[in-house]
Amino acid sequence: MTDIQAQPGTADEIDETFAEPAALLSGQDFWSTREGHGIRSMVLTDGPHGVRRQNADADHLGLNQSVPATCFPPGAGIASSWDPSLMREVGEALGREARALGVDVLLGPAINIKRSPLGGRTFEYLSEDPRLTGALAVEYVRGVQSTGVGTSVKHFAVNNQETDRMRVSAEVDARTLREIYLPAFERVVIEASPTSVMSAYNAINGVFSSENHWLLTELLREEWGFDGLVVSDWGAIKDRVDALVAGLDLEMPGSGDAGTEAILQAVRDGRLDTSVVEASVARLRMLAERTAPSGDATGVDFDAHHALARRAAAASIVLLRNEDETLPLRAGQRVAVVGELAVAPQYQGGGSSHVNPTKVDLPLDELRAALGEDRVVYAAGYSRTSAEDSEVLLAEARAAAASADVTVVFVGLYEEDQSEGFDREHLDLPASHVALIEAVADVARKTVVVLSNGGVVTLEPWHDRVDAIVEGWALGQAVGSALADVLTGAVNPSGRLAETIPLALADSPAFLNFPGEQEVVRYGEGVFVGYRYYTSADRAVRYPFGHGLSYTTFRVEGFEVEADGPDSAVARVTVRNTGAVPGAEIVQLYVAPAPSAVRRPARELGAFAKVTLEPGEATTVSLALERRAFAHWDARGARWWVDPGVYRVELGRSATDIVAVRELSLVGDVERPAALSLESTVKEWFGHAIVGPVLMQSMMANATAEQQAAAEANANALKMVDSMPMGQFARFPGVEIPEEALEQLIALSVSAAVPEPAAEGTA
Ligand code: BGC
Repeated sequence: MTDIQAQPGTADEIDETFAEPAALLSGQDFWSTREGHGIRSMVLTDGPHGVRRQNADADHLGLNQSVPATCFPPGAGIASSWDPSLMREVGEALGREARALGVDVLLGPAINIKRSPLGGRTFEYLSEDPRLTGALAVEYVRGVQSTGVGTSVKHFAVNNQETDRMRVSAEVDARTLREIYLPAFERVVIEASPTSVMSAYNAINGVFSSENHWLLTELLREEWGFDGLVVSDWGAIKDRVDALVAGLDLEMPGSGDAGTEAILQAVRDGRLDTSVVEASVARLRMLAERTAPSGDATGVDFDAHHALARRAAAASIVLLRNEDETLPLRAGQRVAVVGELAVAPQYQGGGSSHVNPTKVDLPLDELRAALGEDRVVYAAGYSRTSAEDSEVLLAEARAAAASADVTVVFVGLYEEDQSEGFDREHLDLPASHVALIEAVADVARKTVVVLSNGGVVTLEPWHDRVDAIVEGWALGQAVGSALADVLTGAVNPSGRLAETIPLALADSPAFLNFPGEQEVVRYGEGVFVGYRYYTSADRAVRYPFGHGLSYTTFRVEGFEVEADGPDSAVARVTVRNTGAVPGAEIVQLYVAPAPSAVRRPARELGAFAKVTLEPGEATTVSLALERRAFAHWDARGARWWVDPGVYRVELGRSATDIVAVRELSLVGDVERPAALSLESTVKEWFGHAIVGPVLMQSMMANATAEQQAAAEANANALKMVDSMPMGQFARFPGVEIPEEALEQLIALSVSAAVPEPAAEGTA
């Protein structure tokens, strides 16, 4: 492991031996670790959607400048691509830039579940669904780490709000943790071996994540097999020694000598075993080795990365509405572009993830380049900063709209509306933006609304008054070219919602519990997060999870599902592009549960695949529905459990648009009888599936013919001793079961109770 010597006795000896290793476990400054003990200093930097490398004034709030790097689409954008292989490409590019900028560990992916649309960092996070989140996060980590750069999966765990984020305790039950808030982390850890995990600021059920032994050691390391380093979120540690003992290796940023001194004092006092320090230093050493520059790093082709950012952004755009084929824009049409966001776009959120882009594509420029300078007129419509008369701006926009065949209205949220550090309080667009939509809709021949919003905004009350709606989320620095690609049809939209757009905030499942009060937030909705709630409660939404339109049409054929084991299945479906242009469809498979002892969501995403098809082309996809797609967390048995019975596998175009259903019968998990002891009752002994018959047979074999006849006649008499512990019953005159026989039977029951692999905690 390390070359730290065994614990010496005196305080001086302790200091001499442990001062350096202890110091290594706190950062040197804002972004780097200390060098020593043969371990190099490393640089850890945000992430997730671009490299935020600061050379001068450092901060973790996105306030000071960082060196230019490609701003890829933030989580809310790229998750809508439903494309893990695209995520991998972006991860690789991020890794190359990180390496070139001297970064060893990129602080991402950020994979907390979008519990409430109000969450301040939903623009950074991926989805309301853990399976989609996990699948994307795995490829992010693989992509970045393929370049030798490390990742830090964050924020572990249950960090779903900004309000009081450094004090709040998320009160959440075990099943909800396991089914909703932990699986994406679990999957990334198991499938992609991230070099590090970042512990969250908040507490979980009263214990701070950064001091949570169950979370950081029992679950993360012992159950999931994580072998990397745990780093604190910046400034998350309250008690350095408690955090270290819980399994948090590295404190970031550095706290001067405070952390080191706390560790040394605990060693001196005998409160801290030196092996704990050694283990953390060993993990730091391993991180340095795993992320060591290989020397063959090539320069970064920023143009190529911008092209990738453009492709990723275009793939992330969701076409929500397209009445009468308003889109794509056609050559020769006169187009009015209104809304200041067309010239000053929003493409990321505020806070630590803020990237200084290498360049920014402006929507207006790109539309003019694509459609012809003379075909596009522009009016600002509103102003973010100036106090210009809004009536004048609206009048200009109306005039522009009246002169055009189609009006494209750019609206959205600003960084001051959506940022790390605070949650939103409503889902509204700025009033001036709504006013612009309404003003334009009155006069335009066709109105297209383009949204740039890191978090969900309400589309009421103007939804029905416009012809098309393009949900651009947060698209990164290629925002303008990507939007132009989709608006003009150069790219056929293929994004699908990774989160539900409700009709009203009050409809959302966490509405009454978010963001909590008095430093406590109750996860009262349990597993019913996002579409799991809306579909179970049969509550109408504006656009469901999984929704997204295309410029082509698809048909599904030959949908088949068959079990390929007691608790898993495989599905096959043929998808055909029946339209006139190439396009991509996302095959979404949902699982509706078999009857269960617990209340389960109406449906949950079980598998998905994105397929790209030329007009007329068809392809057959095969999707694995693994054990976990059917399982729920059995809190009483602290295990994953697949109920035996008939499931429905549903092929959906969204979480509410189910186009085909197949029934699937699964053997599932069979309850194994509990192990017996002398304290187990007579009823439990005789009722035991394996021991019961053996016991009965041996008692009968030893009985005289008279006793046998009496026993049969008196079967009900046994009932009276049903609740008697076997230890006592066995000694009764006339019963007298030898102790040795009981021991053998107990052993038999113990071996029968050993769970088979399929019933273990992780599927
Ligand atoms: C954020 C992290 C970030 C860190 C460093 C914290 O405030 O929660 O996501 O990685 O700062 O900037």
